[in-house]
Amino acid sequence: MAGPTLAWPRYIAAAMPLSKSQTPAQHDFPQDVDGLLRLAAQSMFDVLARSTEGMMVIGRDHRVVWISDGYKRFLPALGFNDEHEFVGRPVEDVVPNTQMLQVLETGKPVLVDLLTNRSGTFLVSRLPLRNDAGEVVGALGLVLLDHPETTMQPLISKFSRLQQELEDTRRQLAAQRRPKYTIASFIGASPAALEVKRQARRVAQTDSTVLLLGETGTGKELMAHAIHSASRRAHRPLVGVNIAAVPETLLEAEFFGVAPGAYTGAERKGRDGKFKLADGGTLFLDEIGDMPLALQSKLLRVLQEQEVEPLGSNTVMRVDVRVIAATSRDLAAMVAAGSFRADLYYRLNVLPIRVPALRERLDDIEALAEALGEDIARRSGMPQKLLSPDAIEWLMQQPWPGNIRELRNTLEQVSLMSDDMQLTAAHFQGDAAAPAPAEAPAPATASALTAQAVAPLPELIEALERDAIRRALQATGGNRMAAARLLQISRASLYERLARWPDLEVQVSNNA
Ligand SMILES: Nc1ncnc2c1ncn2[C@@H]1O[C@H](COP(=O)(O)OP(=O)(O)OP(=O)(O)O)[C@@H](O)[C@H]1O
Ligand SMILES: [Mg+2]
Repeated sequence: MAGPTLAWPRYIAAAMPLSKSQTPAQHDFPQDVDGLLRLAAQSMFDVLARSTEGMMVIGRDHRVVWISDGYKRFLPALGFNDEHEFVGRPVEDVVPNTQMLQVLETGKPVLVDLLTNRSGTFLVSRLPLRNDAGEVVGALGLVLLDHPETTMQPLISKFSRLQQELEDTRRQLAAQRRPKYTIASFIGASPAALEVKRQARRVAQTDSTVLLLGETGTGKELMAHAIHSASRRAHRPLVGVNIAAVPETLLEAEFFGVAPGAYTGAERKGRDGKFKLADGGTLFLDEIGDMPLALQSKLLRVLQEQEVEPLGSNTVMRVDVRVIAATSRDLAAMVAAGSFRADLYYRLNVLPIRVPALRERLDDIEALAEALGEDIARRSGMPQKLLSPDAIEWLMQQPWPGNIRELRNTLEQVSLMSDDMQLTAAHFQGDAAAPAPAEAPAPATASALTAQAVAPLPELIEALERDAIRRALQATGGNRMAAARLLQISRASLYERLARWPDLEVQVSNNA
């Protein structure tokens, strides 16, 4: 817009992008057309400044140049006592969630939008301000309504609800995907612990499949989380599947997903499989030794091709997933016995890591007991108990078939059962080491029976089985699945025995 110098700031005048070609023909308006248009622009500006709830102008450098009288009402809610603290500051520093910078960047007006920040929800409008050359030199922001909820109730409440849901979902997702453990959470400074941590750090740098081997309770799951969190995929999801816990008939859908329309009922809409959910991240296949043979070949194909085919679909989907598998079973022996496919075994066994048993790193017991004690205290809300030197010594003499899980359970039981602040070997020997046999009619124990010269073989066998199961449940804190693994029997056969001898479970839960 050419013409004499304007009485109001240049960039405000520039808000009226009138060119000569757009001005009405001279003969319709005998007066000075330029002057009239300038008046129109000024009047419009004045009217908007007075009749809207608030107005602000920012310059190219993001700074607030001017605010209307109406806008001053919002200052306290934004955390400012007066105009001088606000004007002159970059708009993004003083107005949370502002979108004014997008207008500066794109030069495009946003005629109606909702802005929500700590001072409320507003119906706003944003216009770019251009100079004679058409360059964006600033932006004008208008607050059209400051309580749109009263006049636009349904729209606003829907908006706020969605906004809230989005916020909650984001927060939950972030919390879920944050790895629970890092490599430093694997406590221990013994040579065996340092070596396993060194291997974990090394494999975290690669994208290859990792196989975590080791007895029950040694920390394989902890290690899987730690490797993920040390890898380049740490900011992507870590998705876990416990193969032993999913019924065989549902495993395929769980892994690969279901195409929409493949089934009726609940699955009609289809469902993403774990491979899809882990896309870009890591899939933790726990208890891989429990994978049914039929599914093993399908898993092998996915590992090789990085492609999955959802059930009921005839298209394949590319995925980018790093697999960490774990098992406490002897996979090589299973291959020899024909219950685990050799080709899958070799594919998984690229980077095997053997997590050592607790008895191979007894030197770590003190540090572990300290860390576990701290965690137990934190969770129970009680002060942490001290361990006397003879308690540490006693702990170091135990065989720990249930490994760190068992150590943790033992510490927890003994700390909760005693009011003393210091735990000595006597506390452990009294309660945890040899739990009292079930009250009355006490069945013969294995040792009592074997002490006799001769006893009926079925009775001996039963006593031995009961004893073994009791110890296994003790070692695993009552975790039946882990106990079955420790005994190397199926879950079903453990359940069957527990149904026959219900007192075994009672003993464990009383002690837990
Ligand atoms: N090095 C360690 N430092 C601290 N805590 C540990 C360590 N290793 C294991 N734990 C703890 O011991 C418990 C058992 O560990 P985890 O579940 O990882 O074992 P696992 O090898 O997966 O056992 P399973 O084969 O029975 O599934 C968990 O509470 C874990 O936090
Ligand atoms: Mg595990």
